[in-house]
Amino acid sequence: MKVGVLGSGDVAKVLATGFLNHGHDVMMGTRSAAKLSEWETKNPSGRVGSLEDAAKFADLVVLAVKGTAALDALRAAGEANLKGKPVIDSTNPIADVPPRNGVLSFFSSLDESLMEILQREFPDARFVKAFNSVGNARMVNPQFNGGKPTMFICGNDDGAKKTATEILDQFGWETADMGKAEAARAIEPLCMLWCIPVFLRNEYTHAFKLLT
Ligand SMILES: NC(=O)c1ccc[n+]([C@@H]2O[C@H](COP(=O)([O-])OP(=O)(O)OC[C@H]3O[C@@H](n4cnc5c(N)ncnc54)[C@H](OP(=O)(O)O)[C@@H]3O)[C@@H](O)[C@H]2O)c1
Repeated sequence: MKVGVLGSGDVAKVLATGFLNHGHDVMMGTRSAAKLSEWETKNPSGRVGSLEDAAKFADLVVLAVKGTAALDALRAAGEANLKGKPVIDSTNPIADVPPRNGVLSFFSSLDESLMEILQREFPDARFVKAFNSVGNARMVNPQFNGGKPTMFICGNDDGAKKTATEILDQFGWETADMGKAEAARAIEPLCMLWCIPVFLRNEYTHAFKLLT
């Protein structure tokens, strides 16, 4: 697939490299291409452009920017360039305040997740929440003694969720579909839970698994 990854942070770089290594065409989109010059050197088959360039290029968009900047980044990508496309949303609504006893604060509420806000603002894009509940080091080809970890996803469009599930299969995950966009109210806070051992004990080699 032609994948446009919006962002220049660790998540954007890890996912973009993962897509390249799994045989996809990738363009990263950023406000500041200089931040990605090292990534470009290491990944000569990958491309770097503006947020708009990457969204235009994409059949599949991946949103990997700071949660507080998600709306701005999508606006810069351009509504028309997102229309009808699956958008894998890796973002978390982390507020700009320090964690308290290891617990992050969110700027969203339990009655409205960040992904619902994005879906409402961009009704023609097909958002799927994914990759938000694990550290970037284990997003692609994760290895755990306990077997394949579970990625919880949700979104309103079944076709987009099928695309996300195929990508997650390729990347070595099992997928648990939690339903429509409202389920992001439960999936986004998994980030808070995942981060507690990081802040309290500097442990970050874990992931979630749904046992049935
Ligand atoms: N770090 C992890 O392991 C992890 C794991 C799961 C989920 N997440 C989530 O994934 C997302 C990315 O995380 P990260 O740690 O890679 O990076 P980050 O530090 O949360 O965000 C950096 C990115 O945000 C963009 N950005 C900041 N302000 C912006 C604005 N006003 N307009 C447009 N873009 C703006 C930057 O864009 P420019 O390139 O244009 O400067 C940069 O690409 C976050 O929502 C985070 O919560 C992170």
